[in-house]
Amino acid sequence: MNAFVTPFLEIKELRHDYRQPDGSYAQALRLDHLLAARGEALAVTGPSGSGKTTLLHILAALIRPTCGEVLFDGHDLFAAGHSAARWRSLSVGYVFQEMNLLPDFSVLENLLLAAEISSVPKSDAGERADSLLHRLDLWDHRYSRPSELSLGEQQRTAVARAVIHSPAVVLADEPTASLDAENAGVVMDLLMGLCAESQTLLIAATHDEAMKKRFERVVNLRRPVPAAVGPELVSSREVI
Ligand SMILES: Nc1ncnc2c1ncn2[C@@H]1O[C@H](COP(=O)(O)OP(=O)(O)O)[C@@H](O)[C@H]1O
Ligand SMILES: [Mg+2]
Repeated sequence: MNAFVTPFLEIKELRHDYRQPDGSYAQALRLDHLLAARGEALAVTGPSGSGKTTLLHILAALIRPTCGEVLFDGHDLFAAGHSAARWRSLSVGYVFQEMNLLPDFSVLENLLLAAEISSVPKSDAGERADSLLHRLDLWDHRYSRPSELSLGEQQRTAVARAVIHSPAVVLADEPTASLDAENAGVVMDLLMGLCAESQTLLIAATHDEAMKKRFERVVNLRRPVPAAVGPELVSSREVI
């Protein structure tokens, strides 16, 4: 990456500690530095509890880190005046392990509702949904509810929903963990292909070895060493 060009994503000295019921803090994430460009595909790996989900939640501005910086196009995601809700709805697509589709709505309605939340104009949303339904082989299921679909079809619907508004970044948390190897491969190929075509940065948490191999870059998180936190440190921390 050219050192004189502002990177799309830069992470500096990122840490997150969760507050425990007894008032102490548990370390959940340590990531010293990361640069990523638009259109890259990055796997985030590490054992259970190493902070993969926490990192994705921070990048989606769902939680504010205890300290450190997250810069997109040089702008601090957590700067005063920056709207987390706006960032999430316009710029982020999220794929969950458990899909989280709306059960009472059809596949098509799930896509159109996501488009509406992200302020995609209605005419564009219809066209984009049709094209994704064909591309992801869901056209014949467009009026089905999620419970009428196989797990692979449900996750393909979740992928379509995550990209319907052409986000700048797609965050995928163990997106293939509930699928068999064949469906996992299909979902990953589609997700990676869609992101690469639209220059979307894809960051996917996975601990599946076969999945890891598909990625050009792998960021390995280590489980932070639990440390007793003194009261003088606690009082200076910013936690939400
Ligand atoms: N909401 C929360 N409150 C308190 N601790 C949490 C919370 N979410 C996660 N943790 C803890 O933070 C650590 C990292 O969790 P997580 O980011 O879910 O890791 P991973 O996704 O790699 O399994 C774990 O020790 C987990 O128990
Ligand atoms: Mg996780």
